[in-house]
Amino acid sequence: MYFIANWKMFGGLNSLNSLHKVLKFLKGFKKNKFVKIIYCPPSTLIRPMSKKLKNSQIKVGAQNCHENETYGAFTGSINPKMLKDVGAKYVIIGHSENRKLGETNKLINAKIRSALKSDLKVIFCIGETLQEKRKKITKKILRQQMKLGLRKINNSKNIIIAYEPVWSIGTGLIQKSSELSKTITFIKKENKKYKVLYGGSVNPKNINELRFVDNIDGFLIGGASQDSKKFIDIIKKTYN
Ligand code: 13P
Repeated sequence: MYFIANWKMFGGLNSLNSLHKVLKFLKGFKKNKFVKIIYCPPSTLIRPMSKKLKNSQIKVGAQNCHENETYGAFTGSINPKMLKDVGAKYVIIGHSENRKLGETNKLINAKIRSALKSDLKVIFCIGETLQEKRKKITKKILRQQMKLGLRKINNSKNIIIAYEPVWSIGTGLIQKSSELSKTITFIKKENKKYKVLYGGSVNPKNINELRFVDNIDGFLIGGASQDSKKFIDIIKKTYN
């Protein structure tokens, strides 16, 4: 199971102190070898976090990247090669918070290709908005996001799909696990080789239900991942 922490635009150097607790927990955790943990902090923390987690089982990832593989005059942007250079092994691409700012499926596809070429593993986010859900076009939207986002890509080993319904992110709203099971199974059927995670308001309480969702390979966790106690609790309860 994957447990991916997306810190979004939160955290400074002092936030790295909280990682000690997670490392300590993992040492004593019996199911340790089944757990894959990836932290995606803001870019400013990738280097110090990678240093801190060197020799541990926790990997570090970025939250986005530029689509250009090479250096260029793109003020404020960071390309996959640069992320790799400071210790990132993964990168989140296509998060709805960036889609909302205008990131298209086509651009997401270019970013994924670029990241793979630079040897980064990709956490590819898809998900419907509340409006799309109400219109009952969730499957159509997901199919389109996957088709265009993964266009001409044949590298399933290095891509993890994260299903994050936009209306579940940061709202505390979660669909019934039976409904979620259907969606996750649908995504798996469309893309047989990919691991599929769920993200959106995952917390130590609802994990008791979420862990039973059929075919789920793990979770992408926002808010609760910034609190190491909650993050540890989510992992512990998944294996209860
Ligand atoms: P929350 O867990 O805060 O809802 O965020 C989910 C998310 O966007 C992870 O990428």
